[in-house]
Amino acid sequence: MTAQTDKTLTSSGFSVSQEAPIHTDNPIPTPSSPAPDILRCAYMELVVTDLAVSRAFYVDVLGLYVTEEDDTTVYLRSTEEFIHHNLVLRQGPIAAVAAFSYRVRTPEDLDKAVAFYTELGCRVERKADGYTKGIGDSVRVTDPLGFPYEFFYATEHVERLSWRYDLHTPGELVRLDHFNQVTPDVPRATKFMQDLGFRVTEDIQDEAGTVYAAWMRRKPTVHDTAMTGGDGPRMHHVAFATHEKHNILAICDKLGALRMSDRIERGPGRHGVSNAFYLYLRDPDGHRVEIYTQDYYTGDPDNPVITWDVHDNQRRDWWGNPVVPTWYTEASLVLDLDGNPQPVIARTDDSEMAVTIGADGFSYTRPDDADEMPAWKLGEYKLGHQL
Ligand SMILES: [Fe+2]
Repeated sequence: MTAQTDKTLTSSGFSVSQEAPIHTDNPIPTPSSPAPDILRCAYMELVVTDLAVSRAFYVDVLGLYVTEEDDTTVYLRSTEEFIHHNLVLRQGPIAAVAAFSYRVRTPEDLDKAVAFYTELGCRVERKADGYTKGIGDSVRVTDPLGFPYEFFYATEHVERLSWRYDLHTPGELVRLDHFNQVTPDVPRATKFMQDLGFRVTEDIQDEAGTVYAAWMRRKPTVHDTAMTGGDGPRMHHVAFATHEKHNILAICDKLGALRMSDRIERGPGRHGVSNAFYLYLRDPDGHRVEIYTQDYYTGDPDNPVITWDVHDNQRRDWWGNPVVPTWYTEASLVLDLDGNPQPVIARTDDSEMAVTIGADGFSYTRPDDADEMPAWKLGEYKLGHQL
């Protein structure tokens, strides 16, 4: 994995290039079968250990809408959604992710998904009446990276609640925006996702070409999913969008008023990567949920790829605020197609936390005068510097 040399430094402090400057020396073979035409991330199926408690968090606190529910499962959607659901909460013994689900363009794309993953030697299953309510013919696979993926086209249409202002809350979650996955080898994962038709929009790497994270999209936003370097396969977070920054502040205020501020893990803040405003929450099982708004359009074929220096103190928070260590280390298990947790494989490349936090790490606000950082900012986050 080596960095591409045609990166151009911008006045904003990051580099741009035309093609993702990410290369792997350990690629998953590219199938000869064409990839399915993926439209967008559509929903996540989460296994939760106390359905009533999780329902209260996602419905009563965050305001997602219940499309349908029964004793074991709750199907939720965001305000602007017209497909049956964006989040499935299913009661189970171990908190984990059962499916990262993508919608494809046509029913025939499911045949392509079967051929694509079968050629890779993956376990592939298909169910004509779907795995969840409201979704028709679906393909589920364990992908070569160990993640449980679903593909579907057919879905029950439900009412888009955009005009139902009588129902909206100050922290309204309007769309599912993206997933974020933890995987040990980001270049290998990125190459596989490119074979699946994804385009890289941003990444974080160091001067030696070690890649710490990469963002990639099908829909024309910064991402449908991101690959974050770490022990995996695990799920880092699922993200819902609000319309405005003030909606995110309203969620913080509400959590404070409910004496639930301990659900806030990181933020609110402005990302460097994606330029979005963000907030990270942890649900009752510890599943991480991001609230996200106002990234940018990426749909042109020559959309520039942005590369951030891992030592740039503003890459993950544009205001230079610290990234808490749990954000780097904790993530949710993912399940195989039988419902068993996938084994977690350790990352062997450098960890972003190790190279940026603590006595061994460094970061800068201005690359040319890193020594001028005040002591309390050096290392970005040092235990003992916060009371
Ligand atoms: Fe995110």
